[in-house]
Amino acid sequence: MRGVADSLMMHSWLVLGFVAAVAGYDYTTVPGLNHDTWWGPEGKEEDTSIRPFQIKWEKAMIDDLVYRLENRREFVPSMDDTAYHYGVNTHTIGYWLDYWARDYNFTAREAYVNKHPQFITNMQGLDVHFVRIVPEVPEGKRKIPLLLLHGFPGSFLEFHEAIDHLIAGVADKDFVFEIVAPSLIGFGYSDYTNKQGLGGAEMAVIFKKLMNRLGHDKFFVQGGDWGAHIADIMVVFFQEEIIGMHTNLGMALTDKAFSMISMGSLYPEALMPNDLIGRLYPLKDTLQWLMREFGYFHFQATKPDTIGICVTDTPSGMFAWFAQLISMASRRANYDDPRGGLDLYTPEQLIDNAMIYWAPNKASSAMRIYAETVNWRNYDMGFINEPSSVPIVVVQAPDEIYYMPPAALNTKYTNLVAVDVLSEGGHFLAYEMPEQFAKLVISAVERILNHKQCDKSEL
Ligand SMILES: *[C@@H]1O[C@H](CO)[C@@H](O)[C@H](O)[C@H]1NC(C)=O
Repeated sequence: MRGVADSLMMHSWLVLGFVAAVAGYDYTTVPGLNHDTWWGPEGKEEDTSIRPFQIKWEKAMIDDLVYRLENRREFVPSMDDTAYHYGVNTHTIGYWLDYWARDYNFTAREAYVNKHPQFITNMQGLDVHFVRIVPEVPEGKRKIPLLLLHGFPGSFLEFHEAIDHLIAGVADKDFVFEIVAPSLIGFGYSDYTNKQGLGGAEMAVIFKKLMNRLGHDKFFVQGGDWGAHIADIMVVFFQEEIIGMHTNLGMALTDKAFSMISMGSLYPEALMPNDLIGRLYPLKDTLQWLMREFGYFHFQATKPDTIGICVTDTPSGMFAWFAQLISMASRRANYDDPRGGLDLYTPEQLIDNAMIYWAPNKASSAMRIYAETVNWRNYDMGFINEPSSVPIVVVQAPDEIYYMPPAALNTKYTNLVAVDVLSEGGHFLAYEMPEQFAKLVISAVERILNHKQCDKSEL
């Protein structure tokens, strides 16, 4: 009899086969990216004004949400001692669903999510929502524009606390930040499109143009998860505009990086210090882990509208789908915890973030980013193998979803200024440890500014 491990192994080889097929793909045609695609309803004009915006949670929406939470059907009990092995444990998830319906203070939390100034402007037909904090610039200091890009199933709230630390943390520096943190397209309070083809590359264009509209020809970008991927695309397409990049998900998806990592199985010591080898090798373990945990990725990349119906109609289902991902991406050990390790976050943190999907009804449209990015159209654009000389600092948390050695990162980022290796932390670094995250970003910005290839006169 073949066991689960065997079937996982087989799936792992299928993934490798897919990677190999992609690696052998002919990238020679690189069609240009259209910068002016109209994503909105026909017959409308782009309203370039920048309008102040406040999130409002209507009573009718809250009443309906609480009703759905309170009247959920009884879940089939998880089997004994299965923790998160079969997905979200139904013995424990009720804690957060009840909290949402009974203890979550909608009034107080609405005020909280509005704590930073927010705006809306129209880009290529879509209203784009963003937090923007314009600083006073004291004598002798200069202003550094910083674009913060979140991912899935996160929101602009991932940076909510980190923003305060970023602002306070530069008091003794010779610069201040102007911070811009948008909702990705189709997420939160940004519009979605009804037209096909708006993926990571098209968002890179939109957010670059957003920064330009706010008066910044050049800026820094920080990203994790999808934000990291969008930033990756920005530093290829807009090498002149991006002063530097900071990422907590440093991924070079180049053919060379994959070859290097495959060959590195034979002699990992050649690629990384001994104490980091276990983050990637044996490769079989990494591939098995990816196969076990990344079903959601395949699903969202191929059938987002089906799961979209489930997460749109039931807040319990939506919360559970997100809980699964937040659990697995935060700590590997969460798999064996009946509460999925979700207590790493406060109930308010988890529910605030869920509200940014539920209230504006964006869970379904947000999922489309997978289908619109993970496809041949994007591969054909060629940016994946295209190197960037933009100065980059990568931070690597031990429980991040993937570890990549510096030599592999170098195949994409030819100007890798530093790799900061952490001994604690997961995928949602800004949400999990906002103060430390802010320190890392500030230090990265300083190092990039001091880097010899960065022309300071540009600022
Ligand atoms: C909810 O928060 C509001 C605003 O902070 C506060 O006035 C109210 O007393 C809180 N409600 C409860 C039930 O704690």
